Amino acid sequence: SKKRIAIIPGDGIGKEVVAIGVQLLETLREVRGYAIELVPFDLGADRFLRDGATFPADDQRTIRETCDAVLLGAIGDPRVPSLDYARDILFGLRFGLDLYCNVRPIQCLDDRLMPIKGKGAKDCDMVVFRENTEGVYVGVGGNFKKGTPDEVAITEDVNTRKGVERVIRAAFEFAVKHGRKRVLMSDKNNAMPHAHGLWKRVFEEVRGEYAGIESRHMYVDALCMQMVRAPETLDVIVTNNLFGDIVTDLGAALQGGLGMAASANIHPGRIGMFEPVHGSAPDIAGKDMANPLATVLTIGMMCTHLGFEGEEARLVEIVREAVRTGRCTRDVGGEMGTRAVGDWVLAQVRGS
Ligand code: NAI
Ligand code: MG
Repeated sequence: SKKRIAIIPGDGIGKEVVAIGVQLLETLREVRGYAIELVPFDLGADRFLRDGATFPADDQRTIRETCDAVLLGAIGDPRVPSLDYARDILFGLRFGLDLYCNVRPIQCLDDRLMPIKGKGAKDCDMVVFRENTEGVYVGVGGNFKKGTPDEVAITEDVNTRKGVERVIRAAFEFAVKHGRKRVLMSDKNNAMPHAHGLWKRVFEEVRGEYAGIESRHMYVDALCMQMVRAPETLDVIVTNNLFGDIVTDLGAALQGGLGMAASANIHPGRIGMFEPVHGSAPDIAGKDMANPLATVLTIGMMCTHLGFEGEEARLVEIVREAVRTGRCTRDVGGEMGTRAVGDWVLAQVRGS
């Protein structure tokens, strides 16, 4: 049956990179014969400024009930100072679709993009599973005696056994499915014995079921050092929402920056929302300067989710070749514009 893909360009460079993404999906449909249907949604700052809508219930239902994947550009616009509309859309998708795994590959595709002295592209190939529905992001807490010298500010770190277990299990399942050898769980249970003690106990239980996978634990501060000192020792990493947010930005720096970082928000076996890690980049929006390669890699992840075997690996090789031969934007050492890089990628897909 036909796979339906919701298209949400959003704001700023989100529109520019998703325009390339849509062309790529249309080209893949034509060249490979994939049965896909693209369903555009008008969401983001333009829509909000026009009629005040953020993420209408109708759109949410259509996506939840009829789509297999979502391609999202980025949400965020300087004309809308309040972040409420962005939160409605992003959290509406992440929480509304219960996308509990935020999967972020940290793969350096060219030696020139590797910032660590003495290391090369081959030394950096990991995948982070960031828990995406719990932790400090759920907004539990409060400010007491607000604004006074005696103010106390509390944000609770909410972790449930079901929530922790399902993401740890997903990381192991991913390792098995993709032939990866090691899974590392990172937390700070020494400082946070209640919340992260749960992570430690659940990890101990689940790892026992995956005898073929080497598993270990590392505190998140040590992990940060390890990612820089010995990235080649890291493979699949699973961690909580906050730590995943932080370590994947460090990871983006190992890949060549935000223009190269892809991500998938998934509920395994169900719908997935796929987005480049970067935001709407108002500083370069509308200037044909945005790097579209993160979006190309993101569509690779979407293809894997939709069951189009082999496509992700082909797209990764095309992106690698783009960077190697300088068919890329300035942020990764080239001189081309967004659209020209996109055209080159499309030509490669036609020829491959
Ligand atoms: P950003 O990721 O948009 O930009 C950070 C820096 O990286 C900028 O200098 C930008 O020019 C550069 N950059 C980002 N993507 C690039 C690309 N593809 N090619 C070349 N250079 C690139 O983050 P920032 O500036 O903190 O946020 C801008 C807006 O985006 C804000 O409104 C923010 O809330 C929103 N945002 C949205 C996200 C989402 O939709 N998931 C994620 C992050 C930020
Ligand atoms: Mg972030």
